[in-house]
Amino acid sequence: MNYPERYLITAALPYANGPLHIGHIAGAYLPADIYVRFLRLKRKDVKFICGSDEHGVPITIRAKKEGITPQQVVDKYHNIIKTSFEKFGILFDNYSRTSHQIHHKTAQEFFKTLFDKKVFTEEFTEQYFDISANQFLADRYIVGECPKCSNPNAFGDQCEKCGTSLSPEELIHPKSTLSGEKPVKKKTKNWFLPLDKMQPGIEQFIRSHENDWKTNVMGQCLSWLKEGLKPRAMTRDLDWGVKLPDGLEGSEGKVLYVWFDAPIGYISATKEILEKNWEKYWKDKNSKIVHFIGKDNIVFHCIIFPAMLMAHGEFNVPDNVPANEFLNLEGEKISTSRNWAVWLHEYLEDFPEKEDELRYVLCSIAPETKDSEFTWKDFQARVNNELVAILGNYVNRVMVLCWKYFEGRVPENNSTESFSATFGELNTHIRNIENLIYKFHFREALGEFLNIVRMGNKHLTVAEPWKNSNIQEVGKVLNMHVQLIAKIGVICAPFLPFSSKKIFEMLNLNHGELTWDPASTQDLISAGSQLNKPKILFPKIEDADMEKQITKLHLSKKSNEKNPSQEVPVLNASGPEQALISFADFSKLEIRIGKIISAQKVEKADKLLKLEVDIGSEKRTVVSGIAAFYKPEEVVGQLVSILVNLAPRKIMGIQSQGMILMAENDKNELAFLAPAKNFEAGGKIS
Ligand code: 2FM
Ligand code: ZN
Repeated sequence: MNYPERYLITAALPYANGPLHIGHIAGAYLPADIYVRFLRLKRKDVKFICGSDEHGVPITIRAKKEGITPQQVVDKYHNIIKTSFEKFGILFDNYSRTSHQIHHKTAQEFFKTLFDKKVFTEEFTEQYFDISANQFLADRYIVGECPKCSNPNAFGDQCEKCGTSLSPEELIHPKSTLSGEKPVKKKTKNWFLPLDKMQPGIEQFIRSHENDWKTNVMGQCLSWLKEGLKPRAMTRDLDWGVKLPDGLEGSEGKVLYVWFDAPIGYISATKEILEKNWEKYWKDKNSKIVHFIGKDNIVFHCIIFPAMLMAHGEFNVPDNVPANEFLNLEGEKISTSRNWAVWLHEYLEDFPEKEDELRYVLCSIAPETKDSEFTWKDFQARVNNELVAILGNYVNRVMVLCWKYFEGRVPENNSTESFSATFGELNTHIRNIENLIYKFHFREALGEFLNIVRMGNKHLTVAEPWKNSNIQEVGKVLNMHVQLIAKIGVICAPFLPFSSKKIFEMLNLNHGELTWDPASTQDLISAGSQLNKPKILFPKIEDADMEKQITKLHLSKKSNEKNPSQEVPVLNASGPEQALISFADFSKLEIRIGKIISAQKVEKADKLLKLEVDIGSEKRTVVSGIAAFYKPEEVVGQLVSILVNLAPRKIMGIQSQGMILMAENDKNELAFLAPAKNFEAGGKIS
């Protein structure tokens, strides 16, 4: 099979309204990075593009929630996201921002081209308007019931439960996320992309990929086409975004629809790094464009963006859009608003130098064909049983034997027994991995990689060089295994780049010039070369580390369970509060004054104290996450507010029977909530 020589690979521009979690990584960024690293090893001409999506309603909603400006939101999260990508080894040629001037200019020019070609239809429509907020309610400023699946919290642009793309008019019982009120209709002019008229061209494009697009992607596209495409507004009555190009009548107070400007971000980011040379990646017929995304982005990348590109006329359309499904976490949907997530930047802090462990597990369980599940116990099992026991163990055995018998020098293979005869299956495995990666089956490709290591381990065990008194024979066996380790160092590089580097360091080889093809045909290390001392590639993951993570997850989970599909909760008009609750809801909480009578650290959990609290009628055991702020001896005698009718929960094996309420400020300081007078334990708070 002949594959193209030039590629433009993109990964969905993350909204700069929150940090990245493992669902984002498994969905789009890790597969994209593996693909790009592989293509580079194949010496293809590749540009890997991403950046922050800094427009759109999610940003302004986050700003309201945090009480800061949209600009402050995007600056904060852009930096967090960019740094965590770098630390995790996801290396873009450009991680740009849609706030860059080059992007605004590129998006405006694109819009102007379509405008001049009379692609858009101008339509006066009645749009929802929030009178108290004095604002039109586009996209996520409006929620209501999904007409398809009855999810009561569907957004004005999409239902996140069933994936249907919506317009605000389709929502049943719409309400403003700014005020919670029912909106009114107000007339406004916008520019629409007539997708209905463009359907035949789009349909032809999609059907031409029936054999090479993933079935989950093709399935969604065909169902869209079956429904019949509808015109979609490409402008919005908002003030945060890319302004419309100058000179358009009636364009004041409007910006480009975020899903018009964001994918053009891929083009601007390519231009930004390649000034004159960018066009060959976007316009040359021998170039291939591949978009890595999550399933909620399928319609935008397979239908709307290609429709824009076709209407423009000068660009290639995407060749493939290998979207993944969703990753769940410990049995539940990952949710930003409920803080039910493993955040990448926190993982990197909690597990220094364990980037490849997470890369390995997320690739092994990637939701390639259906939703999949991450649990900390499974993470531990995969790392310990596969990375530690198979890959780490094999590399270590070979290195230790070379030091034991040959003082760390690569021995000669003086026999007639060749490497390729001994490891005859290797080339088949390598071909399989290549084909699987080209087809975006990264999980299987990684499994096939592990089969190579199993083959090495098995051969070494059977050969038993440590029992052989003929040193020439021992040398022959070990030479082949050192060669195999070097090849493993190359083959694992797309998946486990940090370990690949470590293997090469141990072998004293230069890691800068890896290529895929010679890895299958040539010896990579010569006899007589001096090796470095062996180092452990993967330390074992201990139970205590997993328990800490599970506890952290449960402790940080927020309680707005009522809106599980809402990534950003409904806001109160007066400021960054959560959704309103009724008095009946409030009166369900039984909060009392308690007095801490004893306190001790919880073993193997840095953040937890086990407290005994007198609540008047009885004494309660409570596990509280305050150990980073208070020493046990400091809290004994302290009056506290305690929620006493919270369902008991086991935390680190201790039954916790209530929750101590704490105040928290912007500096991450915690304080007890105690009565202003010296009250007795047991007093009720109402
Ligand atoms: O879903 C998201 O996070 C979007 N910000 C993805 C945009 S991808 C591209 F079009 F820019
Ligand atoms: Zn729905």
